[in-house]
Amino acid sequence: MNELDALVDSARAAFAQAATPTDLENAKAQYLGKSGRITELMKGMAALPVEEKKTRGAAINVAKQAIEAALTERRQALADAELEAQLKAEALDVSLPGRQRGQGGLHPVSLTLERIEVIFGSQGFEVAEGPEIESDWFNFTALNTPEDHPARSMHDTFYVEGGSAKAPNLLRTHTSPMQIRHAVQHVKRYRAALDAGQPMPEIRVIAPGRTYRVDSDATHSPMFHQCEGLWIGENVSFKDLKVVFTDFCRTFFESDDLVLRFRPSFFPFTEPSAEIDIQFQSGPLAGRWLEVAGSGQVHPNVVRNMGLDPERFIGFAFGMGPDRLTMLRYGVNDLRLFFDGDVRFLSQFR
Ligand code: DAH
Repeated sequence: MNELDALVDSARAAFAQAATPTDLENAKAQYLGKSGRITELMKGMAALPVEEKKTRGAAINVAKQAIEAALTERRQALADAELEAQLKAEALDVSLPGRQRGQGGLHPVSLTLERIEVIFGSQGFEVAEGPEIESDWFNFTALNTPEDHPARSMHDTFYVEGGSAKAPNLLRTHTSPMQIRHAVQHVKRYRAALDAGQPMPEIRVIAPGRTYRVDSDATHSPMFHQCEGLWIGENVSFKDLKVVFTDFCRTFFESDDLVLRFRPSFFPFTEPSAEIDIQFQSGPLAGRWLEVAGSGQVHPNVVRNMGLDPERFIGFAFGMGPDRLTMLRYGVNDLRLFFDGDVRFLSQFR
């Protein structure tokens, strides 16, 4: 084997030994670099006679090209190996089943509140929200329920800091304080017109939200929901309340096969007062009277606390239980299911 073939062989061996691109570039320098073996051979030609230069030069070139080809081949092999390793490391099993994403949904009581808002909204009622920590004034006194009024004892609740020692703040026992809060704002906005004897746009509002009482069994929860309704104007009557509430019940339960009964009752903030009962004429609940709301004509003292003249303005109010409406609509018999947070129950309402 001549000297040049041996050189090419040794270059191939050196390249084959290079395990990384860096090793390979170092090996390349030994053969093709500035002071590499090929370069040295080229330099060595200077002393040769012209004829020999030609043949020697051609032979060195052949060796150089062979080394370059070996280098290119090895580079490619290393690059292929690197890619192969990377693909292996990042391998995806596209046949694995995907991870399931849980599907959320609204809580059944939220669905009811939405329905209530849409139905009353279509009758021209605004939706108002108010604080769950309430003062004694809004929760009781302004609603014609002064201190020591026996009706207060039915509203045992959770007292919190704030207010006075005699009348501490509390978690509201009903949404009725929103009657006063909303009406006062409304009246403030139209004060000037009222004082000038001009008409005031009717107050037509519902106020849904959380309420609290010390009560806990299959049909009572310490936290529950109510939705208040208030309609005040100069020409509103019990008939209007009946029309609106009947329409609400029939739309809510998607049934015209349902009758209402206004049963005389007592609330301090209405006079006269009535419980509203409904009765389905068909279906699983047919024939039973089901209580769905309290209602009545707003008491003159309450109208006065709203900043209105009870001789001129008359109003009707109602308070219903969205939790109970939800139980009736879906046939749920234990209120606690709504607040346990068990997805097996809740996912049925998606
Ligand atoms: N606030 C009453 C309660 O929690 C319900 C109620 C009755 C609201 C009559 C009203 C009403 O607006 O007119 O027991």
